[in-house]
Amino acid sequence: LSNGLAVTPPMGWNSWNHFACNVNETLIKETADALVSTGLSKLGYQYVNIDDCWAEIKRDDEGNLVPKKSTFPSGMKALADYVHSKGLKLGIYSDAGYFTCSKTMPGSLGYEEKDAKAFASWGIDYLKYDNCNTDGSKPTVRYPVMTNALMKAGRPIYFSLCEWGDMHPALWGGKIGNSWRTTNDITDTWDSMVSRADQNEVYAEYARPGGWNDPDMLEVGNGGMTKNEYIIHFSIWAISKAPLLIGCDVQNTTKETMEILGNKEVIAVNQDKLGVQAKKVRMLGDLEVWAGPLTDYRVAVLLLNRSLRRDTITAHWDDIGLPPNTVVSVRDLWEHETLKRQFVSNLTATVDYHACKMYILTPTLS
Ligand code: DGJ
Repeated sequence: LSNGLAVTPPMGWNSWNHFACNVNETLIKETADALVSTGLSKLGYQYVNIDDCWAEIKRDDEGNLVPKKSTFPSGMKALADYVHSKGLKLGIYSDAGYFTCSKTMPGSLGYEEKDAKAFASWGIDYLKYDNCNTDGSKPTVRYPVMTNALMKAGRPIYFSLCEWGDMHPALWGGKIGNSWRTTNDITDTWDSMVSRADQNEVYAEYARPGGWNDPDMLEVGNGGMTKNEYIIHFSIWAISKAPLLIGCDVQNTTKETMEILGNKEVIAVNQDKLGVQAKKVRMLGDLEVWAGPLTDYRVAVLLLNRSLRRDTITAHWDDIGLPPNTVVSVRDLWEHETLKRQFVSNLTATVDYHACKMYILTPTLS
């Protein structure tokens, strides 16, 4: 969507994966504080996004959405002011239907302009727009109404299409939103995570600055996967130019979680200005090579072992888009080291089971 936003994939936090409907203004403020105190905000995590369940079940007499009095007593303007005072941005959630998925609050269908104006007047910076409890018409009809309403609302608002399924939003979302979901909801398990990664990968060609494929939010730090599995999760999302929306409780992050979410070198791949999503370029059973170009003729490479035994994986220059005689220096983004020798034509590494290696290859003149 050409609204000047999402030049690189958005980074931030969203309440749903960890807190579901248990959201309130204290949680949002404390999360904003924690993003700052952990140093995550400095690394680029700037959106603090409230998901479902923030409004009263009924609109007021003028048809306005009303923040839930028991959980958001100060209202959204005050909350946005607080979040902005921390140098962060506030996101909110609605739905292109009569009710949101939780059915605890109204959707915006028929109220798009009113709601977009309210969001803008509150200082909202990001809208996630779900697709539950609709009138049965196509999302290609209902979503652009909100796009237009946001464009007229007088404030740049990132527009996240939370829509997937038969209509394949990657094929039409680019004109309407800044990102579009390519999968149904992720859960905090290995199988769920890798299947979201696979479903998202097929749409790689459609991602570009301004509009990104969204395989759903991060589960890193929620406890259902091993450290190496979370490293894979974060690496794939990063190399796939997916939104990096933290889905854990940032007030209680472990050192391990911080090491993953705070890996600057992996974040830099996600935020690379070229904005090209990596693809799977070779599969040998459960051993995979993913690769994608970066600025300055560099290449990001992921060697992914999905099997249950340690194995070696080779990235061939032919597969990853480098001329075969190119000499490269290799940076290991998880070990944080530049390999001692240079490589030509291929790179082989031993990779633990359910683990990965992530590299940046930089062509040299030697
Ligand atoms: C479905 C979405 O995919 C989730 O991320 C979350 O927003 C829920 N709806 C909220 O009801």
